[in-house]
Amino acid sequence: MRTRCHFLLAVIVPALIPSTIMAQQIPNAKVTPPPMGWSSWNSFSNTVDAQVVIQQAKAMISSGLHSVGYDYVNIDEGWWLGQRNSKGEIIVNPKAWPALATGEQAGDMANIVRFIHSLGLKAGIYTDAGPDGCSMYPDLGPKYFHTGSEAHYDQDFLQFAKWGFDYVKVDWCGGQEHRLDPAVQYARIADAIRRAEAITGHQMFFSICEWGVNSPWTWAPNVGGIPADTWRTSGDIVAPIVANSKNAGRKAEFAKVVRNFEDGMHPAAEHTGYENDPDMMVIGMPGLDQRQNRAHMAMWAVSGAPLILGADLTKLNPQTLSIVKNRTVISIDQDPLGLQAAEMAELATGIEVWSKRLAVPGERALLLLNRTQSSSPITFNSNELGFKSSAIMRVMNVWTGKVEQPAADSYTVQVLPQDAVFLLVHGLDEAVTTYSSGDIEQGVPVTGGSPVRFDHVTARHNWDVLSIAYRNATHAYRYATLHINQQTITRVAFPPTGGAVNEVWVQAQLDCSKPNTVTFVANSFYATGPQIVSLSVE
Ligand code: GLA
Repeated sequence: MRTRCHFLLAVIVPALIPSTIMAQQIPNAKVTPPPMGWSSWNSFSNTVDAQVVIQQAKAMISSGLHSVGYDYVNIDEGWWLGQRNSKGEIIVNPKAWPALATGEQAGDMANIVRFIHSLGLKAGIYTDAGPDGCSMYPDLGPKYFHTGSEAHYDQDFLQFAKWGFDYVKVDWCGGQEHRLDPAVQYARIADAIRRAEAITGHQMFFSICEWGVNSPWTWAPNVGGIPADTWRTSGDIVAPIVANSKNAGRKAEFAKVVRNFEDGMHPAAEHTGYENDPDMMVIGMPGLDQRQNRAHMAMWAVSGAPLILGADLTKLNPQTLSIVKNRTVISIDQDPLGLQAAEMAELATGIEVWSKRLAVPGERALLLLNRTQSSSPITFNSNELGFKSSAIMRVMNVWTGKVEQPAADSYTVQVLPQDAVFLLVHGLDEAVTTYSSGDIEQGVPVTGGSPVRFDHVTARHNWDVLSIAYRNATHAYRYATLHINQQTITRVAFPPTGGAVNEVWVQAQLDCSKPNTVTFVANSFYATGPQIVSLSVE
């Protein structure tokens, strides 16, 4: 394991680095925020049908969830029982998916999509990367086989796009059962989605559900040359709790919420609108009290995780709704920098300080997590957060709105056992160190033959934020692989900038014992990558 960097509580002066220049104010690239919505799985398992979806979609509107940003209505396993016609096209049960308006045919999934869209919401669908899906291990009811898309990728993803779905979650039950390679299969699926989008002109959000078994954060940012939108990082928090069924007595457990939070933290892989996904939330489901619901929401928000509710939306009480609709919390999750919290300190086993860098200069969301069985003080200091030690911090409790201005450059708060304190902290950012690529007007293009390389890059914190100033005059995203000291870190996306210079942000752990080499390497998807102008470390 990498040892933590120990830095003096002082601004680190980037002396003796000829390429160091002062940072300029550059606009951030536009980053797609994590999706927000609801999934049928946790509360309906494979009993999902049009009636369930209609009720939940209506509840998303009437509860006010839509007005604060929740918009995906995602149909999970159980919508399809594995049948295809002689042309290989998916056939669904017309009773479960009837006509919903005049002129519609029963058994056409476009009906439910039209209904969801008519409410101003977006529609999600589900399949498996293997030949059989998870219906071969049913949670309720009989086994069904062949509910996967393997051997039908082009046909199925084109069908989903034609039906009008905006989101597709691709599970891994059949992939695992048939010992397929997830990086290979999901890359083929990414290609099939791209082809479907090109044919229909309809975009689909791509959610990988491989449960973190094969470290998807190392390959999902690069499936077939470009990133998937989200990838699951762990197993399910809870098996479905379905009213009036043999599973009605199940309960969610807070310990599993914390486990999924921790398993989902891969800050180097989360950037530019691509996210680690710790699973749909269990807030409002049996088993968690309101304090635990709040801590759960805070963990997902600092993670920059997809905020997909799994509870029955028709049954959320006002306290639960106030947690999931809290606008400050949602804005922390949806922050336009698109970064995940990084663990800045583990003060003792189970006493953790997580800090999420936000787009407003000098702003951080902090989660002080006490995983032990006894109450504990948790302290953080301004230097750990990348603030100037001399400047006074402003600390606001996100849930209570209470604001404090600590006199010193550190702040201590008592955290209850198995609980988290959620803070919004303002301070004065340290000056950044900027390394020029050699052409601060145009930038240096990342091409197949010549990577763009920065030498003598110095670490500043346990996790450093690298902001990359670049130009991308094309109309499409460009990509480059980030290497630190010859090790692949992640695939970085560079949205179009017109002629201007924009910045994208990535977090990485630089080696604090020596100068680092940071390199951007072209990928094979586009022979020419972005034009890199400069690299700043803070
Ligand atoms: C897996 C996934 C869940 C859900 C079920 C459906 O367990 O992780 O989110 O989609 O499959 O069977």
